[in-house]
Amino acid sequence: MFVFKAAVVGAGTMGGEIAQVIASAGIPVVLKDVKQEFVETGLEKARQVTEAQLGGLVSKEKISQEDADRQLEEILGRIVGTTEYDGFGDVDFVVEAVPERMDIKQTVFGELDEVTPGHAILASNTSSLSITEMGEATLRPDKVCGFHFFYPASMMRLIEVIEGDETSDETLQAAANFAQAIRKTAVRCGEVPGFVVNRILNSAVSEVWRVTDEEHLDVKEVDKVIQESGTVPMGPFFLTDLLGLDTVLHVAIHLRESYGDRFYVSPRMKELVEAGNLGQKTGKGFYEHG
Ligand SMILES: NC(=O)c1ccc[n+]([C@@H]2O[C@H](COP(=O)([O-])OP(=O)(O)OC[C@H]3O[C@@H](n4cnc5c(N)ncnc54)[C@H](O)[C@@H]3O)[C@@H](O)[C@H]2O)c1
Repeated sequence: MFVFKAAVVGAGTMGGEIAQVIASAGIPVVLKDVKQEFVETGLEKARQVTEAQLGGLVSKEKISQEDADRQLEEILGRIVGTTEYDGFGDVDFVVEAVPERMDIKQTVFGELDEVTPGHAILASNTSSLSITEMGEATLRPDKVCGFHFFYPASMMRLIEVIEGDETSDETLQAAANFAQAIRKTAVRCGEVPGFVVNRILNSAVSEVWRVTDEEHLDVKEVDKVIQESGTVPMGPFFLTDLLGLDTVLHVAIHLRESYGDRFYVSPRMKELVEAGNLGQKTGKGFYEHG
């Protein structure tokens, strides 16, 4: 199946950039959120990322400023923001990127089942929830799969294509083909907690969270030492602020429940989430954000 038009539902930390990735590959995309201000934030994110990418090409003298200006307009012109489901009647592939809560996801999947054509694939960017349960909210569970981007979606190459109990082989193949069409590398995985990447990543970062709490360390100092080691571009607490503490906490709890104590849930992170401090998106998390 060829994807002539796509849609992204949820224009938050991930959605705006996912729409940008799709539009940069030449595919028109509808970007939906519940309020116009959230749609605008997603569109602005797409603009910033595109400007940065094209600006990089200009400074390396790979394209002229004139080409960059034209491409910017073309790419952004392919993204249509909306707060309704208008524009979903002829899409071939949808990426759902709403908050990591099964009740919200199931509502969205039920709505998508109504408003999209019967052949459309409905994919979730979930970090940890069950694809099978999302499929149950539709009449086409064979066309529901996971399509898990990594932050920041415009830079990270990998996409986990996740198979629910009812997902067909055709759907998995079409999702892998779509990943390739938007210049990503697909890795196919089963519906296991943490899939592949978060299971590996969280097993390492769990130890950092654990020792920071047990030894009452300063998170900024821990970040500084880890960043200065040169093994990662930024420390884990700063990264968590960028990813969204609610999302990271949800994945940590899910892994702990699934695999036991070797995965750690940080009480410090839990307190911040309970106080509504979710990181960059709310202006405060482990750090203050301007
Ligand atoms: N943040 C990350 O680093 C990251 C990485 C990979 C995957 N994910 C996954 O992507 C999904 C989205 O995460 P996020 O960090 O972008 O969340 P977010 O909270 O930043 O954004 C979610 C957006 O969805 C919108 N929304 C809520 N209900 C909606 C509805 N019914 N219809 C349309 N929009 C709706 C919200 O208004 C918000 O703008 C989650 O499943 C998360 O696990 C997140």
